[in-house]
Amino acid sequence: MGRIIGILTSGGDTPGSNAAIRAFGKAAISFYDMKIIGFRDGFRGLMENNFTVLDNKSLSGILTLGGTILGTSREKPFRMTVDGNEKDMTDLIVKNYRLNKLDALVCIGGNGTQKNAYHLAQRGLNIVTLPKTIDNDVARTDLTFGFDTAMGIATEAIDRLHSTASSHQRIIVVEIMGHKAGWLALGAGIAGGADVILIPEIPYDTGKIAESILERKRQGKSFSIIAIAEGAMSRDFKENYSKLQKQISASPEGNSREKLKQERTELNVLNASNTIRLANRLQELTKLEARVTILGHLQRGGTPSSADRLLATRMGTACAKLVSKEEYGIMIALKKNRIVTVPLEEVVGKTKKVPEDHQWIKSARRLGTCFGD
Ligand code: F6P
Repeated sequence: MGRIIGILTSGGDTPGSNAAIRAFGKAAISFYDMKIIGFRDGFRGLMENNFTVLDNKSLSGILTLGGTILGTSREKPFRMTVDGNEKDMTDLIVKNYRLNKLDALVCIGGNGTQKNAYHLAQRGLNIVTLPKTIDNDVARTDLTFGFDTAMGIATEAIDRLHSTASSHQRIIVVEIMGHKAGWLALGAGIAGGADVILIPEIPYDTGKIAESILERKRQGKSFSIIAIAEGAMSRDFKENYSKLQKQISASPEGNSREKLKQERTELNVLNASNTIRLANRLQELTKLEARVTILGHLQRGGTPSSADRLLATRMGTACAKLVSKEEYGIMIALKKNRIVTVPLEEVVGKTKKVPEDHQWIKSARRLGTCFGD
């Protein structure tokens, strides 16, 4: 038996994670003669030295499963909850990596995971990462796996909402995941034919949305579907939020910075009920009944789409090859439909947002979709 490689999934669970574990594991074991150890519940498993040896038998039959067979968590090595307190557990994680004689660690996750993995790479661990998140917001890759499945689920939901909205002549506001980036709301909104699409990248004016709904009514269409991303903000709200962000960045560590951060948390909590407030306001302005549907974690559940299985399989097997060549400190990415690698330092600390002139937005605008701007 050759080298020993650890693997973990971290951050929000994502359809396609098992397909990636399977692809990496099977290629690594059968093609490159490696031994694979799967750590449970993200970086926590590495801290607690809680793992399972993955073999061809345990990797069989998982391609179509949602979630992750390894479990996941949002734990950060440098800020883990231990006995009710937050502690930096990096030293113990590094110790366990060495204890298990790992040659490398594969980390599957979104932006938080990339950051945590980079932190460990800086401590001398041999790291390769795979980009997974339904948000599709990891920098330097055209796609993350999980996105296609979630977009399919959200699109189907919008399809189904059409018949009920039209029967009752209502506005239905459907909230789609995505705090910082609007890829999911935009993709599903376009594919599902939403009349209004609201994303974090384009702050909206509620009056303009109401006007577009009334215009539809004048044209004989007395129902409207609004696809709104979790993180979408009205213009006023965004202005306050950005002001606060700037103040936080300019303020030195200390009590006043903590107070500003607390204010930001309060604003985020307030924005969490934004969808409901928007629906109520639109009902007042248009005199049409409005209802809200929050898709939530439905979007992350269940079997991955064929596109996600394919992407995860391509990325997973490429990862095994790179580990065999001892190429570390990198993320596997998709660029122009080719699998490539990107240095981790080019990925961390960034969010891939939807550019305002993106083709999807241009296309939707030509159809008359309202973005609230
Ligand atoms: O990880 C992506 C994501 O699904 C986001 O779209 C969403 O905002 C967030 O996770 C929800 O996190 P949690 O599952 O921890 O509530």
